[in-house]
Formats: sequence, structure tokens, C-alpha cells
Amino acid sequence: MKILLVSNSARGHAIAEAFARSPQNPEIIAACTLRDPGMMKLAKDLRVVDINGLSGIVQIAKETKPDFAFIAPDDPIGAGLSDRFESIGVPCVAPKKNLARIEASKGFARNLMQKYGIGGSPKFRVFTFSSMDAKRQLDLDIRHYLEYELKGQYVVKYDGLKGGKGVKLSGEHLKTIDLGAKYAMECIEQCGTVVIEEKLVGVEFSLLSFVSGTTTVDMPAIQDYKRAYINDEGLNTGGMGTYSDSNHLLPFLSEADVKIASSFNAQIAKALMEECDEPYKGILYGGFIATADGVKIIEYNARFGDPEALNILPILETDFVAICQAIISGTLTNDLVRFAPLATVCKYITPRSYPEDKKEKGQRVIVPDKVPDNVRIYYGDAHMSDSGVVLLGTSRAIGIVGIGTTINEAEELAQEVCEKISGPVRFREDIATVESIQKRVDLMQKLRRR
Ligand code: AMP
Ligand code: GLY
Repeated sequence: MKILLVSNSARGHAIAEAFARSPQNPEIIAACTLRDPGMMKLAKDLRVVDINGLSGIVQIAKETKPDFAFIAPDDPIGAGLSDRFESIGVPCVAPKKNLARIEASKGFARNLMQKYGIGGSPKFRVFTFSSMDAKRQLDLDIRHYLEYELKGQYVVKYDGLKGGKGVKLSGEHLKTIDLGAKYAMECIEQCGTVVIEEKLVGVEFSLLSFVSGTTTVDMPAIQDYKRAYINDEGLNTGGMGTYSDSNHLLPFLSEADVKIASSFNAQIAKALMEECDEPYKGILYGGFIATADGVKIIEYNARFGDPEALNILPILETDFVAICQAIISGTLTNDLVRFAPLATVCKYITPRSYPEDKKEKGQRVIVPDKVPDNVRIYYGDAHMSDSGVVLLGTSRAIGIVGIGTTINEAEELAQEVCEKISGPVRFREDIATVESIQKRVDLMQKLRRR
């Protein structure tokens, strides 16, 4: 059994570890952006490639002839790597380009939800540019929509993949209607369309599902801390840390909330099948917000989250290789997927000046040799030098995951190991602490009382 894993981050390391635990004892071929210290231990063959240059990866597949491929990051999925693999007879866990538009085009995603009557969208409109003459009218229409229909409470979304940096919110990034309209017109100039929607207030969470056609099997719900600094201040990042609870729900959500999110994922898989006339095979990541009016959909991704995969995969008790095989063959069932009733907390170690600067690039980071059994260390943007030391890149470097019977226990484990890591690095100490979770529970109670 041979698997080709395409990876650019700690998410790939967690995926490789889950494969390595399989009783099928697979051989892992890793196509990575760097000499990933985690992958170096787990992969039989590690090839450093540009994961956005699809031909290089296809060549590796031709040479190594894997039984199947797994694509972890969004860019190669959005660019159609899955289609390229299929054209050379390599089955793949990751949707084809047409289906991956659920992440790659926010306009496609919202229009799909509307067309198939899937609730949970905020008020939205997709603006499209057609001719130069129409530009002034478009600008006027956008201003009118922002000011009168959305009453100044809006979000402007670039209609393509932009590493989480294409979304700007009124009040935070866009302080006036003028600035909102200007950013919307910039988006239109760059990619032809822009999505503008109502700004929702509430608490965000993610629910990911394994998907094979119209069958969806859910994973534990996760909360991600996206902001760079303590108390949710600073720029949005890919996620500074995450937690999940032992009951696979979250402290600020009811079971009914998670059921609604689960039903949205199932409806999206069905709608994609109908719209694209082919089955989605991969991971579907629903990004939700619990509001005073119930659970709403923020976005969909066509892959595992990073760090969400770092919480989910270490507590998967069943065979991850068998799950991937079932996704590919269309035989996915609930009993193939079982998670341990444990809580997890991930805290990301990043360069000290991340995300504003890149001053620490190439500097050494030292991770303790021994960590408790219930702590996992996943390498992201950190690589192994020729002399065998770990050097920082410019982005999230190392995900530290504590696993415990309660969130509190998992948090303390992750915190303890984070404190022992030395180098020019930092992490968010408040991730999953009792106080920070209580704040979310209080906000949700306040919203629900209104
Ligand atoms: P997205 O790439 O669509 O997930 O957007 C990035 C972030 O922007 C989300 O995690 C939210 O924090 C925020 N966001 C996106 N859409 C909305 C919305 N309609 N209302 C409030 N916040 C939003
Ligand atoms: N943690 C957010 C993401 O992977 O998109």
C-alpha cells in the first residue's frame, strides 16, 4: 500500500501520522514544500517540490505509482491537481476542480446555497463586472447596497483563494462606505466578481466531514482562534490554535446547533453532486457562526483545516487509510469513523514577529526531546537544516497538541510544552483557557437572551 501525500504544513504532518498508525502499514511518499522534520521521520520518500507547479507533483505520481493520493492544501486542490491525478489513473482524496469551487469561489458557494435552498446564508449579493461603461453604475450599486441594504454592517469577500486575507469587515478593516466600495471595486478588477454580505455577530466554529458523494460522516466540532494576539486582537491568521471537547460538541453550542451544521454539510454535498454531476470525494470543512438567529454559514473549504486536522486526527481511533479507501470507492459508512472521547487543545508556535514581519526567518528553534505521551508535536513552516537543526520559516511553525479527558487538562499539557520551546518564537497563551472559553459562553448566552 503506497500513498502520495501532498503537503505544505503541519496539517500534512498530522495526516501522515494518521496514515502511519494504519494496520495496513502504508508506504508514504511525501511531496512537500520543505524538508519537514515530521515528514522526514514518517515518509519513506520525501520530495521537496513547488506544490503549486502541478506538473512536478504529477511527475512524482507517475514515478512512484501510488495506490492513491491525498492533497492537503487548498491551492493545488483549487488548481485541479485531483483532475490531473485522475487523468493518469491515480485515485485521489480531494475534490476535483469543479467541485472545489465550494472553497475557491465564494460567489459560487453562496449561489449554490441559494439555488438549492440551503438555509444559513446571511443576506448577500454577488456583484459581477460586465463592461467598462457599467463600472460607474456598479460602483453606485455597491455603495447603495452597503449603505442602505446592509446598513453599514457588511463584509466584502474577494472571490478566490487568498490564504484567508481576501475578506474585509466593516468597522474593522473598512471604516467607511467609501473604503468598502473601493475594496469591492478592487476585487472586481482583480477577479471579475465580488461577494458582499451582511456582517454576522456571534461565535465561530468549524465542523468538518469526510465526504464520498452524498455520504457525509462528521468529525468533532472545533473552535479556531484566528486573531494573531491574546484577547483576539491583531490581524487574522490561518489560526493560532484550536480546541475540541471530549463530547465532540463545544461548550457554547447545543447538540441541536451541531446537528444543524451537520445537516448543512450533508446538504452541500448533495447540492454539489447535483450541480456538478460528479461525486465530491474528500474533506468538506464548514465554517459556521452561532448567532442570536441560530447557526449561519460563514464559508466552506474543500480540505482539512490547519490547525483543525491537528485536533481531529490524533483522536481518530479507526483506520484512516480505510476511511480514504472508502471515500474513493464510494463505500464510506459511519462505522468506519470513530473518535476517542477526549478533548484536544492545539497552540501554534510562530516566529515572534508573525504575522507582521519575517525577522526570525532561518533562526533556530529548539523543541524538547521528550514530551508527555499525551502531547503531539506537528511541524509546519519549519525545516530541517543540513546540519540537523530545526529552522524557522516565516509562518506558523510548530503545532503543539495536548490531549486530555477535559479541555482544561489538554490546555495545561499544551501550555507546558509550549513554554519549554526555545528560540525567537511566541504563542497565544489564552487559547482554550477557562477564562477565554467562558467569554465565548457568556457572549452566546447574551445573544440568545436578546
Ligand atoms: P472566510 O474566508 O469567508 O472564512 O472569512 C474569514 C473570516 O472573516 C471569518 O472567519 C470570519 O471571522 C469573518 N467573516 C466572514 N464572513 C463573515 C460574515 N458574514 N459575518 C461576520 N464575519 C465574517
Ligand atoms: N484554520 C482555518 C483554516 O484552515 O482555514
